Amino acid sequence: MPHDTYVIDQMISAKSIAAKIETLATEIETEFAGTDKLVVVGLLRGSFVFIADLVRELDLPVEVDFLEASSYGDAMESSREVRIFKDLRGTIEGRDVLIVEDIIDTGHTLAHVVDFLMSKHPARLKSIALLDKPSRREVDYKPDWTGFEIPDEFVVGYGIDYAQRNRNLPYIGKVRFTDG
Ligand code: IMP
Ligand code: MG
Repeated sequence: MPHDTYVIDQMISAKSIAAKIETLATEIETEFAGTDKLVVVGLLRGSFVFIADLVRELDLPVEVDFLEASSYGDAMESSREVRIFKDLRGTIEGRDVLIVEDIIDTGHTLAHVVDFLMSKHPARLKSIALLDKPSRREVDYKPDWTGFEIPDEFVVGYGIDYAQRNRNLPYIGKVRFTDG
């Protein structure tokens, strides 16, 4: 059962996120310069705000697709067993692909999604996570780009939820429980 009473303390402002995305977009443009058409793949649902802002900063021909992997459900711990719920709509064989994730925590989700997409034989596959909790890693996987390293705190906002709530906050906030 999710806790009922909590407050959200701002951790990363909307302005800092926007500035970081500009920097990351420049690096991504350099990496994929001359690409035929980059397929930007958002992991549902947490990445929907990040991917929307990121693609609008990319001065490259892009296509957008989505993939849904199993998530926490309403719990706060990773299930570690990752399943694909919704596959891509388009084909990525021989294409350049960028996977966009909200947070890398234990690393199980992203590592699994990378393996899954590699089996479709893309030409090049890179990954980006807005947030990184390196202290929680259980799998030896490092995204090609990360926005912010954060401590082991449960965060919400900017697409990221707690039991499906708070995705619409424009900033990243830390959840602090007030019911003991
Ligand atoms: P991993 O498989 O442990 O790396 O988990 C990654 C997924 O767990 C992310 O895509 C998020 O959906 C979720 N997650 C990890 N940390 C948090 C958090 O602090 N708040 C909300 N969701 C989180
Ligand atoms: Mg997620």
